[in-house]
Amino acid sequence: MRVVHSPLELQKLLKAEEGSIGFVPTMGALHLGHRTLIDTAKKENDITVVSIFVNPTQFLAGEDLDAYPRKEEADKKICELSGVDYLFYPSAESMYGEDEVSLNAPNVRGYIMEGTSRPGHFSGVLTVVNKLLNIVKPTKAYFGKKDAQQLMLIEMMVANLFMDVEIVPMDTVREKDGLAMSSRNAYLNDKERQESLNIIKSLRIATQMVMRKECSSVEVREAMLEALAPLEVEYVTIVNRAFEPIEKVEIGNTIILVEAISGSTRLLDNIWI
Ligand code: PAJ
Repeated sequence: MRVVHSPLELQKLLKAEEGSIGFVPTMGALHLGHRTLIDTAKKENDITVVSIFVNPTQFLAGEDLDAYPRKEEADKKICELSGVDYLFYPSAESMYGEDEVSLNAPNVRGYIMEGTSRPGHFSGVLTVVNKLLNIVKPTKAYFGKKDAQQLMLIEMMVANLFMDVEIVPMDTVREKDGLAMSSRNAYLNDKERQESLNIIKSLRIATQMVMRKECSSVEVREAMLEALAPLEVEYVTIVNRAFEPIEKVEIGNTIILVEAISGSTRLLDNIWI
């Protein structure tokens, strides 16, 4: 495995490679969720590239940029053992200049749900993913459905900017008890970890309700809010696959999304019905 810090050097190295390139962008503190993306990229491509970059532009002032878990040595080992060919580890200075061109998330779909509690977050995500895709020029890039809004916006960016890359959505990997794996789970103490299970509980209740009979989004949302207490709920939103709010849950075309705060940790989860 080659560890590369410079964007221009990586670009040059990858240009000289032959065959398909699978790319997994991450912010590190790698867990089994990331590893599933890496394993799939490895299986489906000749060359596998992973990036680890805690992207400052997607953190708002006062968020956990400085506290975000950094596990450089462990992450390198995981990538090496997973058979990654190139690990891209850039510095913020090599990725960003002073006064530069950046992308704006769409005014509606970039500023609902997580975009409401974190305005501007998705502009930072799209800007960095655009840069990373331009550096790596992958055949396929892998993203988790756990960050459903992020995935949808990246798919929009690729379509809107006519980018030549296939985005591959990957199912959410969970702990044995159902909690969606996340680098931020490391912030939870025992009590918060226990309470955070209300998130998967609420999503399971929603699934059971809609499998039993036709349900309105209002009914499902109410049942979920009850199951989520005492967590602080940022939103429970029910949308179709195009991320438009819907009144009735339609099997095959619905995503139910939750963002809740346990202690001071923001937790995201969703279920595709
Ligand atoms: P990060 O949170 O490190 O996640 C990297 C990728 O792993 C994302 O596509 C995310 O959806 C996926 N992922 C995280 N947890 C997962 C789980 N439990 N199961 C399956 N996939 C999971 O998302 C980011 O980084 C950043 O915003 C990034 C896209 C790298 C841009 O900076």
